[in-house]
Amino acid sequence: MKIKDSIVFVTGASRGLGLAFAREALARGAAKVYAGVRNPERFSEPGIVPVKLDVTDPASVTAAAKIASDVTVLVNNAGIAEVSESPFAQDVEDQARRIFETNFYGVVRTTRAFEASLPSNGNGGIINVLSDVTWRPVPFLAPYSASKAAAWSYTNNARLQLRERKIGVVGVHVGFVDTDLTKGFDVPKADPVDVVRQAYDALEAGESEVLADDGSRDLKQSLSAAVPGYIDPSVLQA
Ligand SMILES: NC(=O)c1ccc[n+]([C@@H]2O[C@H](COP(=O)([O-])OP(=O)(O)OC[C@H]3O[C@@H](n4cnc5c(N)ncnc54)[C@H](OP(=O)(O)O)[C@@H]3O)[C@@H](O)[C@H]2O)c1
Repeated sequence: MKIKDSIVFVTGASRGLGLAFAREALARGAAKVYAGVRNPERFSEPGIVPVKLDVTDPASVTAAAKIASDVTVLVNNAGIAEVSESPFAQDVEDQARRIFETNFYGVVRTTRAFEASLPSNGNGGIINVLSDVTWRPVPFLAPYSASKAAAWSYTNNARLQLRERKIGVVGVHVGFVDTDLTKGFDVPKADPVDVVRQAYDALEAGESEVLADDGSRDLKQSLSAAVPGYIDPSVLQA
């Protein structure tokens, strides 16, 4: 499949990776690009159509899917992250519920609302933005990591279910990316545009997974080792 002439809907497209997904789709010749945003009145990007969307609100997701019933490629990008004191912090349960509502149930809700209208002729696709924390333990991000691991599992089930309809499903794993989400972290970060290009290239090539940086590739490589990176991160090179 090609992004050219496709109709793309990106959740959480107001900024960061989502805005990069919307702009890159347009650059690749998409026939229409919808930006799913919480505040459409504040969104102004030439050639991109804003649609009101809060992935935590079922009515909002249903309404967006009705407006954008011509979508051929869905990008589940909207996400939130919060730092926890530890996996046992006093508020960790509330925090996990809040994060899951966006990063897991948001993906489930949005995919469910859009999948029926995706085409079954080889032009349909879904990209789910996951993370390297799917596999990397980071105790101060315990609820966020769990939400991405759950979304990874859902992605794999969705892929299998949609295979018969020739709808490709790509899971994107990446560590720190240079967006608002990581602005407090003084660490090397991937360029959002590079991550987005890899994701679209994978979908166009019929691939199922993107390991967008050295850290994610290193982690994946370690998964079958006797001591994988998820048990002891010190075995990892990157
Ligand atoms: N940055 C990283 O290092 C990194 C690494 C791996 C994975 N990711 C994942 O990449 C995705 C995008 O993150 P980012 O780095 O671009 O973060 P970001 O700059 O903080 O942007 C997050 C986007 O998600 C939107 N959003 C949040 N909650 C939403 C909701 N309930 N409904 C609709 N939209 C919502 C935000 O909208 P508003 O403008 O309205 O807040 C914003 O557009 C997330 O899934 C994140 O987990 C990021």
